[in-house]
Amino acid sequence: METNVPKRRDNKKPLRVKVISLGNAEVGKSCIIKRYCEKRFVPKYLATIGIDYGVTKVQVRDREIKVNIFDMAGHPFFYEVRNEFYKDSQGVLLVYDVGLRDSFDALDSWLGEMKQEMGSQANMDSIVFIVCANKVDLLKRRVVDEGEGRLWAESRGFHYFETSAQSGEGINEMFQAFFSSITDMCENGGKRPVSEVSVGFTKEQADTIRRIRNSKDSWDMLGVKPGATREEVNKAYRKLAVLLHPDKCVAPGSEDAFKAVVNARTSLLKNIK
Ligand code: GTP
Ligand code: MG
Repeated sequence: METNVPKRRDNKKPLRVKVISLGNAEVGKSCIIKRYCEKRFVPKYLATIGIDYGVTKVQVRDREIKVNIFDMAGHPFFYEVRNEFYKDSQGVLLVYDVGLRDSFDALDSWLGEMKQEMGSQANMDSIVFIVCANKVDLLKRRVVDEGEGRLWAESRGFHYFETSAQSGEGINEMFQAFFSSITDMCENGGKRPVSEVSVGFTKEQADTIRRIRNSKDSWDMLGVKPGATREEVNKAYRKLAVLLHPDKCVAPGSEDAFKAVVNARTSLLKNIK
């Protein structure tokens, strides 16, 4: 007799998953994959032409996973080639170079391109995202710090890893977390488990910290117009202080943001009669 209850051994079937890599050209997507699959690093830049495809088998707990990896070209020139490969992915490696701010700022547009190409099929809750802050071996040229990267990733429910394809730092840990989360998601009916990337802070807090980091002056930081009154400055300050006070906010970078807000208020009040 047929029943709807899945047989126990069905759970042990090998799982087939599709993952893609996204990020600007030259951030190290192919090298990260090569480091994991082939345990080697190639210093010479060989741009991916359109797409590179590979398969690897991994074991997660008692389950064999067959991973189809679609390594995308980051160069805008290849948009027409890569756009059809977004669909049906269970995992996305979002990569940026910690020495190139543009590559970090571009993460939003990569998500945008992905959503656009997936169209109505876009269900971002059914995809595991891992953010790789790559090239951490190049300490001197680093311009995007860990707090900023982690905040961007974790405020979206994405994992965050610091990696170096050159030294191998973080690569195995990152892929293990990636495949384990994808397996959990597939065994959870295709929904990304939320508890795992439990962030403990709100999107409003994350967005505010980002806005403060990018503000151009003290007025902008407090979110008031130049020439605002003492009352307006104090009101804006109190709102931000409640949101970001270190006792209340555990988001990465909140302490620095809170200090910056205190300083901005002090310097503005000095000059307002
Ligand atoms: P596209 O295929 O054009 O999208 O680029 P990509 O993101 O695949 O970059 P790729 O992996 O080809 O690496 C680009 C360059 O960065 C190469 O010269 C690599 O050797 C170098 N590179 C990649 N990862 C690292 C890293 O972790 N540290 C250092 N120092 N260099 C790296
Ligand atoms: Mg590549």
